[in-house]
Amino acid sequence: MLKNFWWPLAFSSEVSRNPRRVTALQQEFVLYRLPDGRANVLSDLCVHRGGALSDGWTKDDCIVCPYHGWEFKPDGACVRIPANPPSMPVPRKARVDAYPTLEKMQWVWAFLGDLPDAERPPMPALQEAGATVIFTGDFTWHAPYDRVMGHLSEPAVAALALDGEFAAEPPKVAQASAQVGEWGARLKAQLTPPDRIERSFLGLVSKRAPAEACEAVVAFHMPCITLYRIGDDHMMMAHLPVNETTTVTRWMIAHKASTTEAEIARQRMTASLERMRARVEGQPAPQHAIVQAFTRLHDEAIARGWGIDAHLIQAEYANIKAVVIPSPARREVPELAAAWVMKEVPVKQAPSQSRTTHEPGQTA
Ligand code: FES
Repeated sequence: MLKNFWWPLAFSSEVSRNPRRVTALQQEFVLYRLPDGRANVLSDLCVHRGGALSDGWTKDDCIVCPYHGWEFKPDGACVRIPANPPSMPVPRKARVDAYPTLEKMQWVWAFLGDLPDAERPPMPALQEAGATVIFTGDFTWHAPYDRVMGHLSEPAVAALALDGEFAAEPPKVAQASAQVGEWGARLKAQLTPPDRIERSFLGLVSKRAPAEACEAVVAFHMPCITLYRIGDDHMMMAHLPVNETTTVTRWMIAHKASTTEAEIARQRMTASLERMRARVEGQPAPQHAIVQAFTRLHDEAIARGWGIDAHLIQAEYANIKAVVIPSPARREVPELAAAWVMKEVPVKQAPSQSRTTHEPGQTA
């Protein structure tokens, strides 16, 4: 699990004036909209006694903690403590981490880290698909997110973006070629989908019609995004690590046109992903170009000190003290450095640092 990346935390349609909790990277976040419609993301841990802000409510541009009524501005600063007399200033340390937030392609993205704007890895370059029909859903895996992403970045998965009903067989993939970029990679392949199932009126009688081979493109972008194009159909998946062993894949399909009902589309996707479950949860990801690119970029991120050390959090902090992903304000306002109530998540030691602590000939 990596900090200092843009993470898509929710679909735009899920975020409203009512606070919504999202769990990702073993952290809790609260998402809500400001009066002008912009989405905002804060750490969900109230600095007073650790209450969940997502159980509270919005009031003008503030979010109100339900337990003792502290009110927090969009930048995370507390501006009102009801128990204090109005003449008493709010202490500077009464502040939660606020994460840069953007909406793009109907997703709400938060930059979960403390890098200044100019140093942040980019979001994926998403193109408008010109879609008129959007289907969304999610699927939970009992597997780490890198393995989920490895399996779901195979070219055959692009067939899931097609509209309609298909036989429950794997597509045929040929002529795959890879292109590796600075923050991701893409695979292009010739793909023959399984036979299309055509049903008669009321769905009582069905027949199979061979599907034609077509070009499919699967792209991966750090830290957790896979994008698919097959013909005119597009799909994006975000593989969100809830913790080190559980991943939620949130998917969005964009069609130029479709007569499929949203619930039917969700059922078909769920059935397709369910058929993959044993492989995804039980086998290592296949070693294709996207997995190799992810492994390299992941190792580079760890070397930069961006890897969240979930084991250390569990061993040293669990049930004792909460830790949070640091937000940019921690660097931008140095005079606040000593004021933060919540400590920062510990990060994994870079491989080179590990080696220097265990030189050949030394004992651990
Ligand atoms: S826990 Fe939030 S105001 Fe007390």
